[in-house]
Amino acid sequence: MTNDFWLERWVSGKIGFHQEEVFHKLIEFWPKLPTNSKVLVPLCGKSNDMVWLAEQGYQVTGVELSPLAVMQFLADNDFTFETTQFENGMKVHMVQELPLRIIEGDYFKFQEQGFDACYDRAAMVAIAKPERPNYVKHTIERLTPSAELLLVSLQHDGELNKPPYSVLSQEVIDLWGEKISKISSENLTQLDPQYKARGYDFFEESVWRF
Ligand SMILES: C[S@@+](CC[C@H](N)C(=O)[O-])C[C@H]1O[C@@H](n2cnc3c(N)ncnc32)[C@H](O)[C@@H]1O
Repeated sequence: MTNDFWLERWVSGKIGFHQEEVFHKLIEFWPKLPTNSKVLVPLCGKSNDMVWLAEQGYQVTGVELSPLAVMQFLADNDFTFETTQFENGMKVHMVQELPLRIIEGDYFKFQEQGFDACYDRAAMVAIAKPERPNYVKHTIERLTPSAELLLVSLQHDGELNKPPYSVLSQEVIDLWGEKISKISSENLTQLDPQYKARGYDFFEESVWRF
């Protein structure tokens, strides 16, 4: 998947992945961490999950490619912010109301380290299989050795060559390492008829932690 694919998705408003409400499994499964822990949200879109995390007292950093997504996130939440532009083309938007900043640019160029935790919803499954090892390696390199991860993966019988990609459990373990464990799994076709209507017979959403 090229960067242009995602930029175009935002321009044309094809953002079915976006949820207005805070993801209920984030609230259910997020580990309690010390106040001011640094939380990384890769490929963050305009997710309001970041607002919830910042409201818990964490220092939240989202990274997003699309300037449109970033501007919509800041405007929809009525945030006051200050922007700094770096030489590599990346921008940092510091939100004044909450301990939250959005880095605008390509995640693979984001080099900061030392994050205490990472929240991945619809990020790993947005990356095509050949790039996925690089995504996971790049993410692990951003984290401290004792960092916590909350990851949401999907496995489905829909189209395999476009996001959200179906990722097997074994691939999750192979990429993130043996310390990751699955803490919840649900076949959403049994809970919500819209998945069947969209052509899925099986759409399993799993939550993982380390
Ligand atoms: C499926 S969406 C998920 C967004 C968000 N995590 C959520 O839960 O709503 C994937 C997002 O990743 C962004 N993205 C894709 N490639 C990226 C990259 N290389 N660097 C930063 N963001 C990227 C896209 O613009 C898109 O907003």
